[in-house]
Amino acid sequence: MCGIVGYVGEREALPFLTEGLRRLEYRGYDSAGVAVLGPSLRIVRASGKIAALADRLRTEEPNGTTGIAHTRWATHGPPSEANAHPHADCRHRAAIVHNGIIENYGELKGELAARGHRFASETDSEVLAHLLEEGLQAGKSLADALASALNRVRGTYGVVAISEDHPGRLAAARLGSPLVVGIGRDEYFVASDAAAILGHASGVVHLKDGELVEASAEGYVVRSLVSAPVDGTVERLEGTVAGLQKNGHPHFMLKEIHEQPDVLRNVLRGRVDMEAGTSILGGLRDVGDRLASLDRLSIVACGSAYYAGLIGKRMIEEWAGIPVEVDVASEYRYRDPIVTAHTAVCAVSQSGETADTLAALREAKRKGALTIGLVNVVGSAVARETDAGIFTHAGPEISVASTKAFLAQVATLALLAVHLGRRRGLPSASARAILSELERLPRLIASVLEQAAAFRTLAREYGAERDFFYLGRGYGLPLALEGALKLKEIAYVHAEGYGAGELKHGPISLVDAAFPSLVIAPRDSVYEKTRSAIEQIRARGGRVLALTDEGNADLDGLAAQVIRVPHVSEALFPLVGIVPLQLFAYYSAVQRGLDPDQPRNLAKSVTVE
Ligand code: G6P
Repeated sequence: MCGIVGYVGEREALPFLTEGLRRLEYRGYDSAGVAVLGPSLRIVRASGKIAALADRLRTEEPNGTTGIAHTRWATHGPPSEANAHPHADCRHRAAIVHNGIIENYGELKGELAARGHRFASETDSEVLAHLLEEGLQAGKSLADALASALNRVRGTYGVVAISEDHPGRLAAARLGSPLVVGIGRDEYFVASDAAAILGHASGVVHLKDGELVEASAEGYVVRSLVSAPVDGTVERLEGTVAGLQKNGHPHFMLKEIHEQPDVLRNVLRGRVDMEAGTSILGGLRDVGDRLASLDRLSIVACGSAYYAGLIGKRMIEEWAGIPVEVDVASEYRYRDPIVTAHTAVCAVSQSGETADTLAALREAKRKGALTIGLVNVVGSAVARETDAGIFTHAGPEISVASTKAFLAQVATLALLAVHLGRRRGLPSASARAILSELERLPRLIASVLEQAAAFRTLAREYGAERDFFYLGRGYGLPLALEGALKLKEIAYVHAEGYGAGELKHGPISLVDAAFPSLVIAPRDSVYEKTRSAIEQIRARGGRVLALTDEGNADLDGLAAQVIRVPHVSEALFPLVGIVPLQLFAYYSAVQRGLDPDQPRNLAKSVTVE
């Protein structure tokens, strides 16, 4: 969702800006633009893909060593060139790019218009350019002008500003929308996502909410929006440029699906203590006392992370005996949740920047909960704002639809469940059995990936379907929900995830020959029940695609097709069972001529409410 890059230094800004935008392409956007100071301000924007902007830039190539760029995901005003960022002030001397939402923009726009400002777009962001203009005209420095503009707004922002009034400088600030500053030699980079600056910067400063940075080729200063300079801690920039490439795969999504055996190894690395029969989670060490007295855990998350949370709930309840509730974060934040001194709230998030998840977390914190982050992106807001945390170590996930990050979340939740379980009477032998099975899974997942071609064939067979049920029970239910989400997200097929036991309470009325069902039916404790749902579907002429484990021939006559994965224990089945569902969705999208990496209307990281 909306990407920002900025550059100030001694080199031409444009090559970095366009490459940076390409690296942020995966986040989802519908228009793009750049502004370069050289010394006069030049802005080039285009609706649609970055390729359209690149075409313009070939003829209009703006030169200069200071610049900002943006990919926009429309919120206020449709995707169009006029609504694309950067936005200029009335004088066309200053420009801003903005991620987030200005809630009081209507009021500010009225005020500014009354003072003679002319607006060129329908966006909320443009008010920032005009507020900035007023500060600059009053003779303020770029940073001071930006700070006074931001002190007028309510809402969230990651924002970067440049101006002819202060050549060779940029100023940037954040509140609720991520922004990092990359440190180079005599040059500085800003970006909403560290992916844009990998390979350029050696270190990185993660701006905190309410912080502002001003940079020129001579150096940079981080300060609070309201007061004096603060120490922006420089951290090592994690990750490699190779992690941002497809490495021979046609799409990032397929590459990321295939990375899952290694991802699982990374999740487990250094965290399994077989001798003691427990998992070592260093990030929880400091909160051991509070974990010991826990009587309730709430998991808050969105999208795939929410479904991972539903799997985690079952594991934690089963192995640790702690009651767990799982909420979609957008509901939790507004439902006045019950939080006591013995409540922990665990935010599960790939990006660590999802606005709803962050807001839910802050609400829990305000009410006194112990907060735990289960996050992939190091340095992200959730990672920084929680009392304790566990990184999921999935590496950069570029494809919008989550695959390897989901798997890493489920595996990390399993480690958390074992960890909590061992404090509450889970026998060491049981913990050892779980951990050693987890260690065997990368090989089993690899064996499922070897059958990838079979899922392409299957996707072709179901290529004309418009609807799908995904049904499961027990650990299979969240898996069904996640499988259906994958198919919806990238293949645009109406797919409903449902509890197999609920089928008879309504949805079965939809079943006919044109409404197939994918039923998750491993030989687990509820197998017979799931099997009877298959019977019910068959009795109504419905077609069934069953997912079960190797060695189960029982469904052969009943289901039209049977997918088999290696047999694993009930709780860990989702880690293996998810792989066919991901591949089926991926090939369904490809078979329909769609780009699975950039599904329409979706964004990788949803930093607005
Ligand atoms: C977006 C993405 C989903 C993701 C969800 C939560 O909707 O498209 O794939 O599951 O956000 O993101 P998070 O970064 O918090 O895990």
